[in-house]
Amino acid sequence: QTAESLAAQLLSWYDRHARIMPWRVSPRDRAAGQRPDPYRVWLSEVMLQQTTVAAVTDYFHRFISRWPTVHDLAAAEDAQVMGEWAGLGYYARARNLLKCARAVVTSHGGRFPTSREGLLTLPGIGPYTASAIAAIAYDHPAAVVDGNVERVISRLYLVEKPLPAAKPKLTELAAGLTPASRPGDYAQAIMDLGATVCTPRAPACGICPWSHACEARAAGIQAALPRKAPK
Ligand code: ADE
Repeated sequence: QTAESLAAQLLSWYDRHARIMPWRVSPRDRAAGQRPDPYRVWLSEVMLQQTTVAAVTDYFHRFISRWPTVHDLAAAEDAQVMGEWAGLGYYARARNLLKCARAVVTSHGGRFPTSREGLLTLPGIGPYTASAIAAIAYDHPAAVVDGNVERVISRLYLVEKPLPAAKPKLTELAAGLTPASRPGDYAQAIMDLGATVCTPRAPACGICPWSHACEARAAGIQAALPRKAPK
């Protein structure tokens, strides 16, 4: 199996099974050339750090209706933003959110940088978030590696080295699979695959678009991966 054919199979699965999320562009709008709004992608990715999609959705809608653009958010009072964030936890994220919005407005003319390196200079944007925004908003072929992706890749390529030592290897393998065509959809597809099919305890290999290529499944040890070093 080449990386190209694996990516194509996953994208075809995603076209049929993508989860609907308020910051995503529907397949129809995507086909008409619409791109996701970088502000919405950034806001969703910051909220999704350490928080589930189900818990984030209502907060996302409230933030977007109150502050529809990065200019609106940058002009908000700290206390208003902290108040809307209440309940999401990890409050450093909310403080960095406001710092980042203000930096985008004052130092970048109100537009998010389009490169991963430019994004990394902003408050609260680390390697994962920079890759996610570059891929999803700007369709750059950045490898987006969260816990879901680590699990999928460790199974596909039978990586038995435990986490966290295996991270560099998993990132390299993930980068090798990332396609030049539709990398933003691909990034979300592999996250969806991990969240809905290649799940931690009882992966649904019977409906997985990569089951035929999955080395862990061939060895019968998919549910045991990724291994974790004892704490
Ligand atoms: N988790 C974090 N970001 C995500 C996204 N864009 N799609 C699915 N799951 C995610």
